[in-house]
Amino acid sequence: MDDPADQSFAATFTRQLPTRFLGRPLHFFATIDSTNTYAAGLARAGACEGTVVIADSQSGGKGRLGRSWISPPGVNLYLSAILRPSVPAATVPQLNLLAAVAVADTVARDCGLTPAIKWPNDVLVGGKKVCGILAEMQTEAGAVRAVVLGIGVNLNAPLGAFPEELRDKASSLFLTGGRLVDRPAFAAALLTHLEKLYVLWLEQGFPALRPAWEHYAAWMIGTPITVAAPEGTVTGTVLGLDSDGALLLQEGGGGTPRRLLAGDVTVVGGYTHGVRS
Ligand code: BTN
Repeated sequence: MDDPADQSFAATFTRQLPTRFLGRPLHFFATIDSTNTYAAGLARAGACEGTVVIADSQSGGKGRLGRSWISPPGVNLYLSAILRPSVPAATVPQLNLLAAVAVADTVARDCGLTPAIKWPNDVLVGGKKVCGILAEMQTEAGAVRAVVLGIGVNLNAPLGAFPEELRDKASSLFLTGGRLVDRPAFAAALLTHLEKLYVLWLEQGFPALRPAWEHYAAWMIGTPITVAAPEGTVTGTVLGLDSDGALLLQEGGGGTPRRLLAGDVTVVGGYTHGVRS
């Protein structure tokens, strides 16, 4: 971290951080391959819950389903938090939904924009994706040892940062809101919301988070979607969320709703309609 601009990001950020354990300690890099990969190494070496890795840029930012995450310097937020929840492994995917609510809260309350969530964890503004979340779990004999919760938010990226083919699907808060976002302030606010929701989840489980998630994802109810799920492609209409965060989908022929635990959603007819205002 030799660049004075990076030092100032880290110093300002640490000063503004009101959390109890999230971001303590904080590892900050000017550039790194992937904050998730680095945090996974720290977690394997025994780093404590709350450890956070932030980078100004990533050379190998990882997305879901083996995709890459565009991570140019000086404009966005790339963050990975190490969590060590004492919960059954099956509930860990709920952290994806939890993180999406934390990002949406930050975008709504601290930036004054109108976010929406597309199941499970894409945060959209103006119908375009501005945030991606990647939770990676480490287990031992079936028990959760650590979760690396990676969050990438496109804050101030200009249009040129996105390849032509992504420009109708992805954007930044700056491009959609018309104002530059203060990166250290956003990062501090995000960790604050994340910590609060995480503690709530540990104490009360997913039902305590569900109304907030549904508030941001209300537009999805009744929307026809296609889900590229691990078990195959499923098409249907969104019925809502099950009590554990699974997506309930009504397939064409009627019958019992399908429960989906993971997958990549495409809204039939495009991304850009129906975003809650
Ligand atoms: C997605 O495909 O939607 C998930 C993208 C997750 C990107 C973030 S950026 C910080 C962290 N480090 C990574 O390499 N990936 C996650």
